[in-house]
Amino acid sequence: MAEKKKMTVAEILAAARATGGQDSAAKPAALKEPEAVAEQSAVEVPAKPVPKPKPAAASSAAGGARPGVADILAMARAKKAEAAGTAAQAVSEKPAAAAVKPVASKPAPKSPAAVGAAKTGVQRDTASILAAARAAAKPGPVAKADAPSRPAPKPRETAKPIEEKAAPPRTVATLPAKPVKPAKKGAADGEDRRGFLQIAMGSAMAMGFTALSVTGGLFTLGLARFLFPNVLAEPPSKFKVGSKDGFPAGKVETKFVAQYGVWVVNGDFQGLQQVYALKTVCTHLGCTPSWLEAEQKFKCPCHGSGFYKDGVNFEGPAPRPLERYAIRVADDGQLEIDKSKSFQEELGQWADPDSFVTV
Ligand code: FES
Repeated sequence: MAEKKKMTVAEILAAARATGGQDSAAKPAALKEPEAVAEQSAVEVPAKPVPKPKPAAASSAAGGARPGVADILAMARAKKAEAAGTAAQAVSEKPAAAAVKPVASKPAPKSPAAVGAAKTGVQRDTASILAAARAAAKPGPVAKADAPSRPAPKPRETAKPIEEKAAPPRTVATLPAKPVKPAKKGAADGEDRRGFLQIAMGSAMAMGFTALSVTGGLFTLGLARFLFPNVLAEPPSKFKVGSKDGFPAGKVETKFVAQYGVWVVNGDFQGLQQVYALKTVCTHLGCTPSWLEAEQKFKCPCHGSGFYKDGVNFEGPAPRPLERYAIRVADDGQLEIDKSKSFQEELGQWADPDSFVTV
């Protein structure tokens, strides 16, 4: 509400102009007041120090476009030219004194006072309005020549170089040497024991693997021997027993039984003196009979079968006579026996000339 009631100088002047045309004669004091004030303010206003407007007043006065002092004076002069000469003089004497009084007697109102007067609605005089306008007027651009010389800025103090402080010498703390801990005897023994166990286990494992390898090798060799038998291990089927003169008549030679399984006999068979080779295998179950020189017979120890000197069975379970091998006189005059061929008496094979050698 206080700001609405506050009137600016322009508004006041506009109101004065509006009313000046109509009632210039009735209210000469109101119209001529700015002129008188302008004349007097040129003398009196500078004498009084105008208080600096407060920020609140300045902000409120800067709200709209306000005419400057020169405009106000120009408008006053124009009004002055229009007014009549006599009326202007009369008006300028009386109201001037009246206008000077309040201005001279009263101190220059401060902007808050003008605001208070506007609030209360009291009509202010021209001096107070001008003072308020000056106080609220913004300073225009000032030429460099008119501008007060500003104090030269103080040169900035250059930053002083920071002096490097010498680092205090470090004191190396010499720690006392730690005493060497003696090696634990128990730990050393444990390590030795563990090493021995490791070596023993390693050796045992190595021995086990070695034995396994050897066993595998032997098994492989035996398997190869089984798959490929050596047939040449048997004694040869032909062998020589010497000349027939070495076998006298009626003599049974037993020295070839163990090596060749043959009896060489110089005997009589069916009226013929012959040298023949008897097989030392019993015809019952395969046992080896024995020659009994006193009894002049072959006796089987197994079941008691008996055979004569010519090989014919005569007792015991033997079902047939002993068998003969092939015999011949070799190129060198020796008797050669061939076991690959056999001759059986029950089959009449003893009559084969390959089964005997005549003497
Ligand atoms: Fe010679 Fe039985 S095997 S009698």
